[in-house]
Amino acid sequence: MTIAKKIEESIKRSSWIRKMFEEGARLKAQHGADKVFDFSLGNPNLPPPETFRRVLKEVAEDERAGVHAYMPNTGLAETRRAVAAFLAKEQGAALSADDVVMTCGAAGALNVILKAVLDPGDEVITPAPFFVEYGFYADNHGGVLKTVPTHEDFTLDLAAIEAAVTEKTKVVLINSPNNPTGQVYSAESLAALGKILTEKGKAFGRTIYLVSDEPYRKIVFDGIEVPSIFSAYPESILVTSYSKDISIPGERLGFIAVSPEAGYKAELLGALALANRILGFVNAPALMQRVVARIQGETVDVSAYARKRDLLCDGLAECGYDFVRPPGAFYLFPRSPTADDVAFVQTLQEELILVVPGSGFGGPGHFRISYCVEDDVIQGAMP
Ligand SMILES: Cc1ncc(COP(=O)(O)O)c(C=O)c1O
Repeated sequence: MTIAKKIEESIKRSSWIRKMFEEGARLKAQHGADKVFDFSLGNPNLPPPETFRRVLKEVAEDERAGVHAYMPNTGLAETRRAVAAFLAKEQGAALSADDVVMTCGAAGALNVILKAVLDPGDEVITPAPFFVEYGFYADNHGGVLKTVPTHEDFTLDLAAIEAAVTEKTKVVLINSPNNPTGQVYSAESLAALGKILTEKGKAFGRTIYLVSDEPYRKIVFDGIEVPSIFSAYPESILVTSYSKDISIPGERLGFIAVSPEAGYKAELLGALALANRILGFVNAPALMQRVVARIQGETVDVSAYARKRDLLCDGLAECGYDFVRPPGAFYLFPRSPTADDVAFVQTLQEELILVVPGSGFGGPGHFRISYCVEDDVIQGAMP
């Protein structure tokens, strides 16, 4: 073999989502796309907001010298200022442009952070079920992903996290609103987590970072708000992107925001800038940075996702499915009616319904329905 053994192994174990994608393509070719109900991918189906399209056109017309040039590794000053000004209000924290690093999506941001803080063998703790790429991201930078269970309703099991923290723990990585469960962690649970990490950090004599991955922060329903991690814990780092909230995942833009109270903030920001450079991202896409600088706070029509959630939840409740009604994101994670979620997902496939087994997210006995699809797909699948 000419490729690395580890990569060969990873391809073999290749994620369930990818398998479903391939199976979906096969079934669509065989039966016709309109006959297949594809709930496998988290690719937003809502169009970007109208203002995004308008500003994109204006920005594309900009012919000033240097608009397509290299820039500081942390991003354009004007964009970081705009992001910081928006975040300061949203998070109720004294953030400045210096605390923000523009990245190639949330995925790029997470890799930059882990590159910047992990030493070989350091542990990254994450509550399960979890976004499956986290395992690869930790491993990319010599880290080890350690999962801890959540409660039945997918809220944080603080005792489990506390028990899992060791002298090797460098990062606790949370994701709220969560993929695959849609759960949002409460301010109380984040404050309690902050306390645990402060105590553990003191006991082990090292900084444990709380990294909060929040690409679905703005996709929440029923008046729910996602609490800020900054008020919960000083050593916290926020990660997000524009992939889901303005439906531009292909454009690869996101950012990191470091708590203004972080103990080694200057060193950390320097490490993030270097990691962005040497991972080969160099800087986040210039054109998109110029666009988002002017449309902070814009979102897709979140009420459309709320409607899809309701259609799905009401329909499945009537069929007797057992699930937690998700307050955010665009995923539902019902309990599989049979213990073997992989077998159940295969049964659904025979009905031309594509979902992903919970086992693929460290949540066996469940399956994930991604409902960023046309209403017709939800309604058509229900019978
Ligand atoms: C929890 C979570 N984190 C990160 C990402 C990566 O997002 P981005 O497109 O911003 O890199 C995703 C994408 O689905 C996600 O679900």
